[in-house]
Amino acid sequence: MAAKPSTPRPRAVPDLKTAADLAPVLPMTAEVRDGHLWIGGVDMVDLAREAGTALYVMDEATIRHQLAEYVRWTRFHWPDVDVVYAGKAFLSLAMIRIVAEEDCCLLCASGGELAYAIRAGFPAERVQVHGNNKTPAELAECLDAGVGRIVVDNFEEMERLSALASARGASQKVLIRVTPGVEADTHDFIMTGAEDSKFGFGLNQGLAMEAVKRAIGLPGIDFEGLHMHIGSQIFALHSFARAIEVIVAFMREIESGTGQPVRMLDVGGGLGVAYGAPDEPSTVKDFGKVVVDGIKEECEKHGLAVPRMAVEPGRSIVANAGVTLYTVGSIKEIPDIRTYVAVDGGMSDNIRTSLYDAHYEALLANKADQPREMVATVAGKHCESGDIVVNDASLQCPEPGDVLCVCATGAYCQSMASNYNKQVRPGVVFVRDGQWRWVIKRETYDDLMRNDVLGG
Ligand SMILES: Cc1ncc(COP(=O)(O)O)c(C=O)c1O
Repeated sequence: MAAKPSTPRPRAVPDLKTAADLAPVLPMTAEVRDGHLWIGGVDMVDLAREAGTALYVMDEATIRHQLAEYVRWTRFHWPDVDVVYAGKAFLSLAMIRIVAEEDCCLLCASGGELAYAIRAGFPAERVQVHGNNKTPAELAECLDAGVGRIVVDNFEEMERLSALASARGASQKVLIRVTPGVEADTHDFIMTGAEDSKFGFGLNQGLAMEAVKRAIGLPGIDFEGLHMHIGSQIFALHSFARAIEVIVAFMREIESGTGQPVRMLDVGGGLGVAYGAPDEPSTVKDFGKVVVDGIKEECEKHGLAVPRMAVEPGRSIVANAGVTLYTVGSIKEIPDIRTYVAVDGGMSDNIRTSLYDAHYEALLANKADQPREMVATVAGKHCESGDIVVNDASLQCPEPGDVLCVCATGAYCQSMASNYNKQVRPGVVFVRDGQWRWVIKRETYDDLMRNDVLGG
């Protein structure tokens, strides 16, 4: 694959910020002591030396705080709200334990994620499973595990689930996934008449209503309610408000058309987070108000009983809890063009920059009290010119051996990591109260070859 380097941008100027100025994108326990970055009471420079790099570091206090914020600011407005952590953002056995301890539910997107929940001893009735093409084997695994809810995405799946559940004498609670025709982005929303999405049943052409009617009539299926998810990294809360208007109006149609109440409404995840200095995402408190009060008000407007609710945050639980530590290997200065700072990781541990042109903040953990006086592009070690971790990063003056910290990498980095170039995937450590522990060990070369078969 030949990828171009980053698209040409105006030359950036260094922002002279220190670690203290980067607080909005760092874990809540981040601080500077003796010129070093500390997180969770642990010196990131010592940690990099002891545990090696590349390394994902997650702050347990920030994860717990974010989960608790969701529980607090949703249930403040209505007691029956499930906070369902979307495991796709970051999943490990230790993470699942925290989700259980913080009184949250778990959203699984595959049989593999469900297997994690089972192995971690997570209560199956608090597991919800979604996905646009669950295999028959995965549906059977869900039933055998006794998961709380399955989000049904298409007619074929509904029929399969009905047959599998009936054969087991079970009645599985399901939510019907609806595409409300509201497409969110960070600034605005647009109505998507065509509802061009691979997920769920569109409201137009009556597909969603047809799905609800079939679900009500099928054996083995207990139609509990509706599910939607309008997107990710959403800053504008009015996108949620608009989608809620649309879906509660549909609840009214269901009740009038079938006589059945919608007992559960799940509005998905998607709240945005700060990756860079200009980002000002909405707070969990405001999200809770807009979503929960919004549902209550719309229900009142339509004369409906307020249903049980669910929200499914992923990114906003873990993104700012995590950083990635790398060691600077080489520095390449191309006069009048660009300086590349190469690190011992890259697109295999963070694909988001190459995939979405995502932007991150970076700093040198061993020079955390110094201002970021230069601009450099942080490059990975893979055989791709597009293997960039941070484009045009303001950075303290780097030298080989420095510990480079990329901020806000707790979501969709480890979970999307690969072994490209046979790179071992970094381990994950949790830090808390001055201690650190492995929650996912760094891979070894043996791990890489574990499933290889040498024939002949
Ligand atoms: C159905 C569903 N729920 C929840 C999430 C979590 O979204 P986020 O990480 O943006 O909060 C996703 C992710 O895209 C999703 O597909």
